[in-house]
Amino acid sequence: MTATKGLEGIVATTSSISSIIDGVLTYRGYNIDDLAEHSTFEEVVHLLWFGKLPNQEELSELHTRLEKNAAIPSAVVEQMKLYPSDANTMAVLRTAISALALYDEHANDTGHDANVNKAIALQAQLPTVVAAFARIRAGKEPVPPKAGHSIAYNFLYMLTGEEPSASAVSAMDKALVLHADHELNASTFAARVTVATLSDMYSGIVSAIGALKGPLHGGANEAVMMMLEEIADLDHVDDYIQSKLDNKEKIMGFGHRVYKNGDPRAKHLQKMSRELGEASDNLKLYDMSTRIEALVTGQKGLKPNVDFYSASVYTMLGIPRDLFTPIFAISRVSGWTAHILEQLDNNRIIRPRAEYTGPSNQLFIPIQAR
Ligand code: ACO
Repeated sequence: MTATKGLEGIVATTSSISSIIDGVLTYRGYNIDDLAEHSTFEEVVHLLWFGKLPNQEELSELHTRLEKNAAIPSAVVEQMKLYPSDANTMAVLRTAISALALYDEHANDTGHDANVNKAIALQAQLPTVVAAFARIRAGKEPVPPKAGHSIAYNFLYMLTGEEPSASAVSAMDKALVLHADHELNASTFAARVTVATLSDMYSGIVSAIGALKGPLHGGANEAVMMMLEEIADLDHVDDYIQSKLDNKEKIMGFGHRVYKNGDPRAKHLQKMSRELGEASDNLKLYDMSTRIEALVTGQKGLKPNVDFYSASVYTMLGIPRDLFTPIFAISRVSGWTAHILEQLDNNRIIRPRAEYTGPSNQLFIPIQAR
């Protein structure tokens, strides 16, 4: 038995949800470029869960079901008021989603239909949880979602209590489409491993949130913004990046386990970053980002991943940086739940082996003699 570090190149399951082949990302066979340009997040959610793009009637039905599930139990809101206001937002999300399970009488029903209902509830409730905590920690009351609007609209609306602009809703919707699923990424794998024991869907999502939190995965978008804030000025980019590269430090938002010639999602986010900068007549973050890209790609051959331009996009939408990774979760919960449904429709416990590298033939010495 020989281990492969980080399971690189190991094919651990079959899946018909999304694929990365020759650097092209598809959801159920649809190129991400087409979906990003032409589809809404709710259409993508339908595609991931039910295997097909919805017709108008199916889409309306999904909107209605999401809308009906968007509120969170008042007990969970009250609990969130007890969380430290400076708590890590991914830890808050992980805790609040775990708490939601306590108020769902079907939490432990792992049947397909019950799980579809839970997928809808989780998709609808994650944005409400994130926006509610953002307001609670600022001493404000949560704003309930508004009927008749998309998840992207409502997330922005619940954050501020104000009607978001059409361009902000469109940018947020596109970001949600781009983050929805990504083959067997670390958090999706974590979700599948958890539910494959026949644990419940909430446990799977809590596992996934924990995995996404790390800076080598979803946490990179926040780390990118911290870097941009630290650099602070276009004139400082070269020195800062050069010193990081010389010290062999990682530049957040670059590199990918699967894509070696660039992440197909990054170009959409780059375009959005430029457009938002132009619209606000402030291209500072965009210019800093493109300069960083030129240096890192030029010297290391590493290309930006989905997290790199997300940072400037979300900042230009007025979103605090510690909500970036929770936004990733708001989108990716669609993929996590699709993978959980797929795993459980043809389940086998996931239990790989380890190559043992410890000592052998140890002689046992009683504690008195050690
Ligand atoms: N900056 C500088 N060097 C890098 C970077 C980076 N961002 N990424 C990889 N490298 C270098 C490594 O140091 C390593 O060099 P070496 O062979 O000289 O030791 C080589 O490239 C291979 O990198 P690994 O870390 O072994 O690649 P792995 O496939 O294990 O990791 C990962 C992929 C985690 C994405 C990595 O590129 C990284 O840490 N990037 C920064 C964090 C990040 O942006 N994560 C988000 C990924 S996308 C997502 O999850 C949503």
